[in-house]
Amino acid sequence: MTPEEFRKAGHALIDWIADYRQKIPELPVRAQVEPGDIRGALPSHPPGGTDDFSALLADLERVIVPGITQVQHPMHFGWFPSNASLASVLGDIASSGIGTLGISWESCPALTELEEVMCDWMRELTGLGSQWRGTIHDTASTACVTAMILARERASHFSKNGAGLQGVAAPLVVYSTSQAHSSIAKAVQLAGFGNDNLHMVAEDPWTRAMLPDALAAAIEQDLAAGKIPAGIVCSVGATGTTAMDPVEEIAAIANRHGVWLHVDAAMAGSAMLLPECRHLWQGVEQADSLAWNPHKWMGTILDTALFYVRDVDHLEAVMSTNPSYLRSGADGQVTQYRDWGIPLGRRFRALKLWFHLRLDGVEAIRSRLRRDLDNARWFRERVEAAEDWEVVAPVPLQTVCIRHVPRDERGQPLCGEALDDHNLAWVKRINTSGAAFMSPSQLDGRWMVRVSIGVESTTREHVARLWELIQQSAAAG
Ligand SMILES: Cc1ncc(COP(=O)(O)O)c(C=O)c1O
Repeated sequence: MTPEEFRKAGHALIDWIADYRQKIPELPVRAQVEPGDIRGALPSHPPGGTDDFSALLADLERVIVPGITQVQHPMHFGWFPSNASLASVLGDIASSGIGTLGISWESCPALTELEEVMCDWMRELTGLGSQWRGTIHDTASTACVTAMILARERASHFSKNGAGLQGVAAPLVVYSTSQAHSSIAKAVQLAGFGNDNLHMVAEDPWTRAMLPDALAAAIEQDLAAGKIPAGIVCSVGATGTTAMDPVEEIAAIANRHGVWLHVDAAMAGSAMLLPECRHLWQGVEQADSLAWNPHKWMGTILDTALFYVRDVDHLEAVMSTNPSYLRSGADGQVTQYRDWGIPLGRRFRALKLWFHLRLDGVEAIRSRLRRDLDNARWFRERVEAAEDWEVVAPVPLQTVCIRHVPRDERGQPLCGEALDDHNLAWVKRINTSGAAFMSPSQLDGRWMVRVSIGVESTTREHVARLWELIQQSAAAG
């Protein structure tokens, strides 16, 4: 494709994206396809020749759009807000269009230095101190694997340089809670600790926050048993109910024992743009690493996961490679992001943040986040006031966890499996209809429904419409 052909097709694609975004509210929220439908609509073999761009665009509309669950839809209340602001989409297009190779400072100085500045801007916007240095990973999952490797290498005195974990005499232990996102257990496993050495610390029965006394006791117990406490993963906004572990108290314990503390604020990090929410990660300055995703609620399109550390020397000592073909005269004066994580080649992700912050503006993003907090408060109050409805967990941010507890024919509140079936049924009716989408989730082994508010286009009217739909669906069951 020549630049001139690209220009023509690119204009058509931008028009298509703009039209598509405008019509999202008219589409079903959940993809109305069965497994294999999309695959079946595609040719089994690659094309022999070339196609017209208009034919490709037509197939995008015909084949791909029906297979999309519309997370940009104002009636999407599932999982978490995965906003993809159009300003950041332009940054993403610029990143792809420029076609950089991010393998060293020399291969694209602008990529490295814009990434440094964006991480500093985001640090300042979330009220973090200047001791933090950041990078942009693809996801919080990758950031957590990186953090767990840093924890392992600190506790094992750089076992990677010798026999690895196979040469460490005692088991290394990581601490978290059952509320932590599944990526935490995965990171612990992949970093070589093994599931047996992931210690799930007791939680407060209502807030689901880690109990610091239980953490301290678990560490003492493991030390007495000859084990080596290596890492703690603390959730600021765990996925299920947005549980907030008390970072300050946990950090004091971590520092007392020299244990690496990673803070996973993947979803809730966006809230830290608001000074009034920062008490939720009070003590974060004492952690060793921290990750959060502007690609969730804040709305910089995937993949934009910020990863900060305080001790860059340790990070580089663990992650550095120094092959002769990547050396340059700038070494020692510049940041080499390949030494800050797992991949060598990186995308120019900082452009997405740069475009988003400059075109949408920080104050507009902040007021949208405040709107969502307000909508969540409004929704929680409606549910709390309604007969036979429960809010089953605190609502520190924008996710409200609810359950309908109707009475049975004897006038007793439904319980056990009958209660599960009823709640799964009303949410399934709504999700299947395409009118709205929510994620059911288990809490203490019983089903509830998470209503995650925060899509860029979701207004109070949408939340009010959802509440009506929910009540109608629950009454129909
Ligand atoms: C609290 C929390 N941590 C980690 C993750 C994983 O995020 P990612 O998809 O960026 O790996 C999520 C995603 O939902 C999350 O909510």
